[in-house]
Amino acid sequence: MRIALRVNGVEREADCWEGESLLFALREKLELAGSKNACEQGECGSCSVLLDGVLVCACLVLAAQADGHEVTTVEGLADGDRLHRVQDAFVEAGAVQCGFCTPGLVVAAADLLGRNPDPTDDEMREALSGNLCRCTGYTKIFAAVRLAATDGWG
Ligand code: FES
Ligand code: FES
Repeated sequence: MRIALRVNGVEREADCWEGESLLFALREKLELAGSKNACEQGECGSCSVLLDGVLVCACLVLAAQADGHEVTTVEGLADGDRLHRVQDAFVEAGAVQCGFCTPGLVVAAADLLGRNPDPTDDEMREALSGNLCRCTGYTKIFAAVRLAATDGWG
């Protein structure tokens, strides 16, 4: 089947198998490899994207379900050469080690700050609880989100 969707503000089309995930279509058909594939079971959040503005695991969404809808991936967060404030904050705070979790965490954190510009630590932990990191121990990741939420960023 052929699907048509808007990805990062651009109209795109792809030929997909009916059982194909949105993650597979993004990575393999649309050449957007920012969303990572770490579990394909909805457990790790490395594939987090926004579907019509709602945070989802792209590995759990069928590509066919995105037909006619709008998807934002980590590649769509920056404004040209200007990184999103969450991306800047991850760099500033040193919140990246292997980087496999980073795109999903950046999308989830950007979603959180878009809805709640000044989250408490508990709100931050809850919002990012679906995104697993096996390297950092999360301290610098939460520091980055705090930094991005600080006045003067963005
Ligand atoms: S790859 Fe989608 S949640 Fe892990
Ligand atoms: S930096 Fe390696 S999994 Fe998070």
